[in-house]
Amino acid sequence: MNGNMLRILMMLMLYSSSPAIFAGADGVVETCSGIVPMRYRNDKISITDFGGVGDGKTVNTKAFRAAIFRIEHLRRRGGTLLYIPPGVYLTDRFNLTSRMTLYLASGAVIKATQDTANWPLADPLPSYGRGRELPGGRYMSFILGDGVHDVIITGENGTIDGSGDIWWNMWRQRTLQFTRPHLIEFMHSRHIIISNVILKDSPFWNVHPIYCSNFVVRYATILAPADSPNTDGVDPDSSSNVCIEDSYISTGDDLVAIKSGWDEYGIAYGRPSSHITIRRLTGSSPYAGIAIGSETSGGVEHVLAEHINLFNVGVGIHVKTNIGRGGFIRNITISNVYVENARRGIKISGDVGDHPDDGFNSNAIPVVTDITMRTVWGQNVLQPGLVKGIKTAPFTNICLSDINLYGSLKETAPWECSDVKGFALKVSPWPCSELVSTDGASLCSANY
Ligand SMILES: *[C@@H]1O[C@H](CO)[C@@H](O)[C@H](O)[C@H]1NC(C)=O
Ligand SMILES: *[C@@H]1O[C@H](CO)[C@@H](O)[C@H](O)[C@H]1NC(C)=O
Ligand SMILES: *[C@@H]1O[C@H](CO)[C@@H](O)[C@H](O)[C@H]1NC(C)=O
Repeated sequence: MNGNMLRILMMLMLYSSSPAIFAGADGVVETCSGIVPMRYRNDKISITDFGGVGDGKTVNTKAFRAAIFRIEHLRRRGGTLLYIPPGVYLTDRFNLTSRMTLYLASGAVIKATQDTANWPLADPLPSYGRGRELPGGRYMSFILGDGVHDVIITGENGTIDGSGDIWWNMWRQRTLQFTRPHLIEFMHSRHIIISNVILKDSPFWNVHPIYCSNFVVRYATILAPADSPNTDGVDPDSSSNVCIEDSYISTGDDLVAIKSGWDEYGIAYGRPSSHITIRRLTGSSPYAGIAIGSETSGGVEHVLAEHINLFNVGVGIHVKTNIGRGGFIRNITISNVYVENARRGIKISGDVGDHPDDGFNSNAIPVVTDITMRTVWGQNVLQPGLVKGIKTAPFTNICLSDINLYGSLKETAPWECSDVKGFALKVSPWPCSELVSTDGASLCSANY
């Protein structure tokens, strides 16, 4: 059995052992529970045991590293909870370890120092080939779990503050040397929960699970100013069994963006994002509410997003890819979305995003098929939708039903479509002739 088959088998096993995730709607409130087993930690330590001082001035890097070193090396049965009491704990970046809970009390703040000159660098991600915003390596994430399992970041809605403004200003002044750090990143990790926590002012993307499985974000509040550059909320990237629910996100870029690597690097790495669930999410963004892409070279499939409320967004739902990306975007279902004040309700486009370098293969055409959007309604939406496929590879089986998207004072621009095939049912204003009227959703079932 090769590695790929083993991975698929293991994924199927994980998936079938958590039936609650995708169960039908029989009045039962569906949740992420089951994706990651809950853990109770008998062993508890406090950051103050390691000299931590929450006065907002003391730099607590040594305390964090010593506490986590203790968890890693003492390996108490059932893992250890690291308690952060109320107070502002300034610290340089640090790494997490397996079998730990980082617990922030009410009023606890873990705040990043702004020592950008001594910020350590990491290698580029193999599926990106370079930093996302600049060539070369990237600054290491503020809180990083690399190759870990069974990690929980939770508490009583304490705050993890990335002190992003110094980084945003470097970006604005074009003085950045490398790609900015994420606030929280997990790589090659599994069984991770981020819940009941406030994430604030991330330098770059807020939560970046990459090459991960069984990853949950729930009861999270993610905040950054609307003009802060690239402060995406949660970006599941080449990861499977990711569940995001009951959260509020208001940032300067996409609230959730599902990704899987960039052009030739992502194609070579070939790890998709699959079985991604997003539900009961509310938020605002000058960019997209729910995005897929634009980096989707490893493929994105089996996505369900439902009960999403968006206020003041650029685009409600944005599926984006490009020539040179390769990969696929398929079996995507998005339903029960409310959009208020948006430039566009829905956008599915094949000409978005830049390339890492000139080495991209212009014959690497993404396949976009089986996208269902159901029950999407909105007001003050300037244009209901734009679907722009790729000439040599039209997007197929795009199914829209029960969609009502209107501007103010009935000034709604018409839908625009090209290079797309699919079906529409009860869509108002009516989309375009490429989307054929159908009397049932049966035609929209997956057929790839
Ligand atoms: C944190 O983890 C990264 C990635 O595994 C590693 O390169 C780095 O040296 C670690 N840093 C510290 C301070 O342990
Ligand atoms: C923390 O925030 C979540 C989500 O906003 C909320 O449901 C929960 O009640 C809060 N918990 C506490 C202890 O304040
Ligand atoms: C399509 O995705 C959903 C999750 O949204 C999943 O439950 C279903 O099994 C997938 N369909 C196929 C044919 O894999």
